[in-house]
Amino acid sequence: MNKKITVLPGDGIGPEVIAQALKVIHALEKKFNFQFVIGQEWIGGAAMQQGLAPLPEATLEACKLSDAVLFGAIGDPKYDQDPSQNVRPEQGLLQLRKALGLYANIRPITAYKKLHALSPLKEEQIQQVNLIIYRELTGGLYFGKKEKDEAGQWARDECYYHRDEIEKVAHLAFIQARLRRKKLTLVDKANVLETGRLWRATVQELQQSTYPDVELDLMYIDNAAMQLVLNPRQFDIILTENMFGDILSDEASVIVGTIGLLPSASLSETQALFEPIHGSYPQAAGRNIANPLAAILATAMMLDYFDMDAESRLVREAVDFVIQEGLGTMDMAPKINISCSLMGDFVSDLILAEKGEWPVTRKNLQDKLGN
Ligand code: IPM
Ligand code: MG
Repeated sequence: MNKKITVLPGDGIGPEVIAQALKVIHALEKKFNFQFVIGQEWIGGAAMQQGLAPLPEATLEACKLSDAVLFGAIGDPKYDQDPSQNVRPEQGLLQLRKALGLYANIRPITAYKKLHALSPLKEEQIQQVNLIIYRELTGGLYFGKKEKDEAGQWARDECYYHRDEIEKVAHLAFIQARLRRKKLTLVDKANVLETGRLWRATVQELQQSTYPDVELDLMYIDNAAMQLVLNPRQFDIILTENMFGDILSDEASVIVGTIGLLPSASLSETQALFEPIHGSYPQAAGRNIANPLAAILATAMMLDYFDMDAESRLVREAVDFVIQEGLGTMDMAPKINISCSLMGDFVSDLILAEKGEWPVTRKNLQDKLGN
């Protein structure tokens, strides 16, 4: 496996969580005897700090030449205070998504039984929730024509979708639905928006022509936002446009209890980027308290993408074991609180050990912690 990976640690806690994901990759390389070619580049506020653009040319080039990109986080409060700032860290990620054509963002939401108490939602509502959000990632309001009045009186963001953009992401969502409960919920605002009606017509036609075996549910975004916390088990695959998907995926993290456990994949026909869905969490940066499990699970999604099934399975099993044993970072309110870097060490140790030895690996960690 001579896969080329470009790592973009980015801002805030990005470098800390990515460092743990890299530990896990190195443990896997050792265990399964393969080697990735890994390079690292600047992006976002960290790039701007170096006097570079949010997406430096060299970063984009490296990503284009890679088999996959592993991304940390982006955003720096330094640039949030002043809305007149024209150059912002987030542009780095948005430009990268566009330049790589990453039209589909896939966000799996799995409620862990052991962590039910973390969620503010009632246990009976979140039991066995297992859904995936397919978010269109390179269109809509995010990338429509933008305009603002020089005098600061008005501004406009256009929401534009072409049928082809909708079909591309819808195909991926339908194909995934076929492998699961054969149920897809399209979330839109077709009662108000032209783009919503285009989404609805396109997805309905696609279902009738190509995926008649998949049940298609249609739901308005306002209702979906409510249903997602009222009865999340009704969902299997949610398909939606860019902005609604951004909002719904943060909302869905409430089901899991912490956003620190949620990974995502962004795909084009030829390129792929994997990232935790959490942001740069600047308050935690440099304190070694961030949860690296989302970055580690994003790595597992990358391994799936490379068809490295045994490797990705082992990563997920190790993460399940960590959770099962009541170990976690602060956001997981665990029985045994461990730091970001210790979590990386522990998951790597589990990967290197035989599964039968995992209880011993855990005991060693506890001895080290002195409890
Ligand atoms: C996400 C983030 C990004 C987005 C930001 C950082 C630009 O919130 O990946 O969900 O809005 O898409
Ligand atoms: Mg978001």
